[in-house]
Formats: sequence, C-alpha cells, structure tokens
Amino acid sequence: MQIKMRIHFANAGLVKQARVEDNFCNGRKCALTNEKIMDQGKANMKKIIILAVAIGVVAAITARGADAKDNWTKLCAKCHGAEGKGDTKIGARLGIKDFSDPKVQAAFKDDDAFKDLKNGLQNEDGRTLMKPFDTLSDDEIKALVAYVRTLKSQP
Ligand code: HEC
Repeated sequence: MQIKMRIHFANAGLVKQARVEDNFCNGRKCALTNEKIMDQGKANMKKIIILAVAIGVVAAITARGADAKDNWTKLCAKCHGAEGKGDTKIGARLGIKDFSDPKVQAAFKDDDAFKDLKNGLQNEDGRTLMKPFDTLSDDEIKALVAYVRTLKSQP
C-alpha cells in the first residue's frame, strides 16, 4: 500500500513537470527552439572535431620535419655539411656538390635521390660514395629528399 502510494505520487510529479514544459514551449514554437539548440550543439561539435584534426595534422607535419632534420644532422651532415654545401673534409675528398646551388638541385630527380639513398651510390670506378641507408624507412628517405630540397638557396 505504501509503495503504491509512492509510485502514484511519483507519476503525478512527472505529469506535472511535463505540463510545465508544455507551457514553456507550446507546439511548433517549442520544436523549433529545440531544433535550434540541437543545431547549435552539432555545429559546436563539428568545430571541435575540425580543430582537433587540424591540431593533429600540424603535430604530424612538425614531427616529420623534425625527424628529417634530425636524420640529416645524424647521418648526412658529416659529408654534406649542416647546410648541405658539401663544405666538409670528406666533402672535399669525395667531390660533394653544393645543395644550395639551384643547378645542383636541378641535376637530380627525387626518384634518383631516393634510389641512391636506399641502394647506395658509387662513382664510375665502383668506389662507394654513399652507403645504403638501410636503417631508414622509405618514408624517412622521402622526408630526407624533401629536406635536401629545402637546402636550395632562395633567389
Ligand atoms: C660518406 C659521405 C656521405 C654521406 C654520409 C652522405 N652522402 Fe650523400 N653524397 C655523397 C657523395 C660523395 C655524393 C655524390 C656527389 C654529389 O652528388 O655531391 C652524394 C650525393 C648525394 C645526393 C645527390 C643526388 C644523387 O645523385 O643521389 C643526395 C640527394 C644526397 N647525397 C643525399 C644524402 C642524404 C640525405 C644523406 C643522409 C641520409 C647523405 N647524402 C649522406 C656522400 C655522402
């Protein structure tokens, strides 16, 4: 008996609340307001998602740039020089060209550079100029080739 009473009261409470809401937004007007609120919510959600994706992309690009520069400093600079000018002892000995020179940049294609870094490079006498960089992934080699392109001096 007691439990029944409570349920009854609880139901009455719900009905009352529903009525109050009905009064605040009656019929079509209410539906419109709700739609507006929903749209606003969706638009905000979209903005948040776009922002999150943008931050992710920027982070990825920066990370990649840093990797290529790091690899350059670790693996390439001792021969090619920090700025790629070939102004090192080994560079002088092996006749390394100056990557800041647009003519030098134009003399090889990205694909050639990729292959030479992956498989190694010899001169005509079969002397090794560059050993294959087999610790690098294809993506890392591609990023390094892109990095080499940034060493060209801007006119
Ligand atoms: C042992 C010294 C040495 C190291 C280390 C070295 N290179 Fe080279 N690299 C050479 C020589 C020598 C040549 C051939 C002469 C030239 O083109 O300047 C060359 C040529 C190149 C070329 C010319 C394009 C072609 O024909 O392939 C690119 C690009 C290049 N190196 C990038 C790199 C990158 C990137 C690294 C680091 C991952 C690297 N090199 C490390 C010595 C080196």
